[in-house]
Amino acid sequence: MAQPDMTRIEAAGGRPEAIRLETLRFAWPGRTSFRLEVPEFRVGRGEKVFLLGESGTGKSTLLSLICGINAPDRGSVMVDGTALADLSAPARDRFRAERIGVIFQMFNLLPYASPLENILLPLSFAPDRRRRVTDPRAEALRLTGALGLQDDLVTGARAAELSIGQQQRVAAARALIGAPALIVADEPTSALDTARQGAFLDLLMTQAEAQGATLLMVSHDARLSGRFDRVLDLSEIAMTTRGAG
Ligand SMILES: Nc1ncnc2c1ncn2[C@@H]1O[C@H](COP(=O)(O)OP(=O)(O)OP(=O)(O)O)[C@@H](O)[C@H]1O
Ligand SMILES: [Mg+2]
Repeated sequence: MAQPDMTRIEAAGGRPEAIRLETLRFAWPGRTSFRLEVPEFRVGRGEKVFLLGESGTGKSTLLSLICGINAPDRGSVMVDGTALADLSAPARDRFRAERIGVIFQMFNLLPYASPLENILLPLSFAPDRRRRVTDPRAEALRLTGALGLQDDLVTGARAAELSIGQQQRVAAARALIGAPALIVADEPTSALDTARQGAFLDLLMTQAEAQGATLLMVSHDARLSGRFDRVLDLSEIAMTTRGAG
């Protein structure tokens, strides 16, 4: 499919790309049956990329490397010109909290905290994101309202009491609050009905465009790809080795 949009990368004024992977290799410790190799992958600042791929081919694994949650065995991951390998583990966690809004495939909400507390949590680790929000509570409720969640549910319930689709929308609001430069979304609409998917994509696109944020979204649903700058299958950028076991 389409090549990286170099005009967009150059239009960023020679500044480093939002994401740049080079000669990446990764295997899960103790597992010989799966290996991911990415010779090169670049995403320009402000670019919106839609990533498809068969189940088990390594999309979530790739996102975890881009977010610095896992480290590659070889090669480099650069986000906004910073090589993640050059950061200490605590510095990498701070970097992720500040620069990257992540919607995890399994949401990773704190089950006993309220949705509101979950949404506000990243701001406590990210002073720049916090500074961009005048009234965190009001901003959290604006985001959840746009996603069709009632205020009393957001402030009064525990995250674990929410339906899966409601939890997914809380995870989306948590990723968007405070305008991180990069939004990484792993199957963020998998539990949503068509109307909610539309509302989520509207919010995602509006926020990303207003903030000039870069967007990398994984989905199995190719019908959602229309509003993205680039659509690619993982197999176009990566070689996945899958053996028995
Ligand atoms: N934490 C982990 N420890 C060990 N192996 C893992 C771990 N997470 C994923 N794997 C393995 O890595 C491979 C790729 O998994 P991954 O979750 O990246 O696939 P995926 O493309 O995101 O699939 P799906 O579309 O089903 O979400 C699989 O073989 C999986 O078993
Ligand atoms: Mg996955």
